[in-house]
Amino acid sequence: MTRPYVLLSCAMSIDGYLDRETPCKLTMSNAADFDRVDQLRAESDAIMVGASTVRRDDPHLMVRSEERRLSRLAAGRSCSPIKVTVTATGDLSPQAAFFADEEVEKLVYCPQSSARRIAAMLGSAATVIGVGAQVSMGAVVRDLGDRGVRRLMVEGGGHLHTQFIVDELADELQLVIAPFFVGEPGAPRFVEAGRFPWTASRRARLAESRAIADVVLLRYALSDRFDGRSLPAGSDSASATAGSLRPQP
Ligand SMILES: NC(=O)c1ccc[n+]([C@@H]2O[C@H](COP(=O)([O-])OP(=O)(O)OC[C@H]3O[C@@H](n4cnc5c(N)ncnc54)[C@H](OP(=O)(O)O)[C@@H]3O)[C@@H](O)[C@H]2O)c1
Repeated sequence: MTRPYVLLSCAMSIDGYLDRETPCKLTMSNAADFDRVDQLRAESDAIMVGASTVRRDDPHLMVRSEERRLSRLAAGRSCSPIKVTVTATGDLSPQAAFFADEEVEKLVYCPQSSARRIAAMLGSAATVIGVGAQVSMGAVVRDLGDRGVRRLMVEGGGHLHTQFIVDELADELQLVIAPFFVGEPGAPRFVEAGRFPWTASRRARLAESRAIADVVLLRYALSDRFDGRSLPAGSDSASATAGSLRPQP
């Protein structure tokens, strides 16, 4: 099995929140940046989010650009990547947008003990995969690799990002900073508490920074598999190489 290349992608407020406390959806980014994310999706074999994001955001997780969808089809791929989520409770509605779009495969990972119950509840909406007593992201990534996934994009939320970073399964992080504060202590954060491999004495490598209209994209190399694939230029953007953000000595 070849472990998929894992790219974490998210947008957060200046104070590190992914969303507000209340379930109303908060728009973090702008049109040019959504287009960048759409390109990342189009380049991926699978897109993963946590079950809480499925419940709160009800995302479709599809490639939006018709041109990109056609180009995937021309390459013999599905029009949009496989959709992946993970749950312990199984609290997922088969009516959620995640389960729409018949042309795209949906995978739901859960503990082995709940797999039968969740499969019965979701019916034909998804393939349910039980992996061990508790689901580890390592097991998910191994199984995705066995299914031919070579490039996995993880789009949050924070509970998911935390596990991928703490377990050293992430190869790249594309983090967007939106120009506002949330300031609500109960709101979900980009990551939760954890023993992170990147500390003050082991710093992650900033590979690129880029202004995209009113947001900033920070691109970190989190493993030596970081592929440095160039990002679409996008409109309204200005890029800087890693060194330019460092304070001058
Ligand atoms: N700004 C952004 O870019 C962005 C991106 C994505 C999400 N968000 C926001 O982030 C918020 C959600 O983030 P979150 O951290 O609260 O949740 P999350 O990471 O989306 O999902 C957490 C849920 O996923 C399931 N899960 C995760 N790891 C698991 C494991 N190892 N085993 C079994 N189940 C597992 C559990 O579902 P069950 O409870 O079903 O067991 C858990 O409650 C939402 O408000 C969303 O809008 C923002």
